[in-house]
Amino acid sequence: DSHFFSYSDGTLSCESLKLDELARQYGTPLFVTSRQSLISQYRAFEEAFAALPHFTCYSVKANFNLEVIRTLAAEGCGCDVNSGGELYRALKAGVPAEKIIMAGVGKTEEEIEYGLNSGVMMIKAESTAELKAINRVAARLGKVAQVGVRVTPNVTAETHPYITTGDSKEKFGIDEAGLAEVFDLFKALTNLELHGLDMHIGSQIFDPEYYVAATQKLLEVLESARHLGFDIKWLDLGGGFPATYDPQKPATPITKFAEKLIPMLDDKGVTVIFEPGRFIAANSSVLVTKILYRKKNHAGKEFFIVDAGMTELIRPALYQSHHEVLTVKQHDKSVVADVVGPVCESSDFFVRHRTIGDAPEGELLAVLSSGAYGAVMGTNYNGRRRPAEVMVDGSEAKLIRRRETYEQLVQNEI
Ligand code: LLP
Repeated sequence: DSHFFSYSDGTLSCESLKLDELARQYGTPLFVTSRQSLISQYRAFEEAFAALPHFTCYSVKANFNLEVIRTLAAEGCGCDVNSGGELYRALKAGVPAEKIIMAGVGKTEEEIEYGLNSGVMMIKAESTAELKAINRVAARLGKVAQVGVRVTPNVTAETHPYITTGDSKEKFGIDEAGLAEVFDLFKALTNLELHGLDMHIGSQIFDPEYYVAATQKLLEVLESARHLGFDIKWLDLGGGFPATYDPQKPATPITKFAEKLIPMLDDKGVTVIFEPGRFIAANSSVLVTKILYRKKNHAGKEFFIVDAGMTELIRPALYQSHHEVLTVKQHDKSVVADVVGPVCESSDFFVRHRTIGDAPEGELLAVLSSGAYGAVMGTNYNGRRRPAEVMVDGSEAKLIRRRETYEQLVQNEI
């Protein structure tokens, strides 16, 4: 992972800008994203897989801010989108449709139509029923859809149970036993062409062996598909590559994944597609929040009550995920405390029982590794307004999302 957030003169900074100055200018809570971090993560990924004919489609679900997408698109990468809304965002950010792959376990006919009319590179299917729907829509539009089939490799990658997806117990993909029927369907349905085989085994996966096992299965499917005469051009291995959240448990370097995967794939006559999200975005942003109150109860428990919460970053509540929390001003003394938000839920915390700098009320904390599945999973629960987002590039900062207003909270209501 890249290090674009570090202390300089006792103040936590993003690239050349101090976080307290950004907070003064833009208010809190505030997501601060390092442009250079996004770029360097993307380039590290590309460098690791340079020896493999491949195409990287940033998974925009990790952080779909238009400027984040634009930053990566300018580097040449494509996008993986999971809904009509994400397709809209990617197109709006200027990503050419022929660099976009459309996924999603439950796409509506409206979304399928949007994808086909836009001319996306590949639309992925996860059931025979969906294949029929794609064929129906394509026929209506007078088009032939370029389709990829998501295969369930039945590999249970070790990660949080909510983010493992390659297992036959989960809703994703079509398992091996169902593939014969899928191949028959492609022969029968005339508005579909099978060009891709796809998998995605989960997220935040540390052990490359899970990819090796699943890729092995995908290669077997490739063999049978070719045997049946299908022209498979793309082998999509999905995303899932890890980011470091806890310095005590550093993520496996991306080069370790590349070392295992490249020799398995480089002579297969396919373009390998990757869909990294977290690897690129997780450590590219922090969430800056103000300490509103400190309190200590009679049991001796100490709390920092801050102005951000699960409405801005739900990962600790939803996946018990670890995030580092740092004081923006360095402090010599520290305390053991919970950092909690203002939302009316006991699960509204960032950390529990953590050693943290002894910062007074009014000072700032930064919740690290908030760039992936942070702002995008934000909600308006408790009438909370979505926070502002800024992007830093060297010594420049620009607002990339305005803080929501009270009027916006009710604008769609009648
Ligand atoms: N491709 C597909 C088909 C996916 O479902 C996902 C993520 C990705 C790519 C990108 O995976 P990544 O490289 O980011 O691991 N909200 C959860 C993570 C959910 C991931 C969903 N799918 C979290 O905050 O941990």
